[in-house]
Amino acid sequence: MGAAMSKTIKDQTVEQLGGGSSVLVRQRREHQEMDRLMDQYLILDDLHQREHVLKQVVQLVFSHAFAEETVLWPAVRASVPDGEELTARVEEEHQQINDLVADIERLPPGEPGREEKVQRAFALIRQDIRDEEDLLLPRLQDAVDTARLRKLGTTWAAVRQTAPTHPHPVIPRRPPGNALLGVPLSVYDRVRDALGIGSSASRRGR
Ligand SMILES: [Fe+2]
Ligand SMILES: [Fe+2]
Repeated sequence: MGAAMSKTIKDQTVEQLGGGSSVLVRQRREHQEMDRLMDQYLILDDLHQREHVLKQVVQLVFSHAFAEETVLWPAVRASVPDGEELTARVEEEHQQINDLVADIERLPPGEPGREEKVQRAFALIRQDIRDEEDLLLPRLQDAVDTARLRKLGTTWAAVRQTAPTHPHPVIPRRPPGNALLGVPLSVYDRVRDALGIGSSASRRGR
């Protein structure tokens, strides 16, 4: 790849992204599922059905974001030259989504102010997906080899299993702080060891 310009992962083949176990393929697949669920929410009229779909969106988005913050962004910071700036941008988006969803969960379904917050949260989720697929993940793809993308993919899948599925107002966006809420630190340590990520990247939590 070398001098080739970073290219959105949106239109690449599974092969180009490193195969079915690559973290890039797993990312895109979950983004597509988020998109599908948000579209479904928007066309439903029944309040009860809408709430059910909204719950699915929230669970998917939160476990997905947690795995990004625990596994993927430390790897980006370790291997991409401007990884610090790129990950700070998506962490800010995650924080805004977190705060909006925390508000949404405090308001009764059907309340107009709540619906407006759902729309804003969906817009932010779609923005986050675009920033990751078009800006951040192509840089990771340029910086690491296919074996690394697959290793990140399997670690990603393991962390997804234990990730929190709801917002918390004071989750630090960086590990190990973000791990304190839902995941034993031993799990985080094993992830870090498996990926060979040094402790300097992990001690920058807010
Ligand atoms: Fe993502
Ligand atoms: Fe994200």
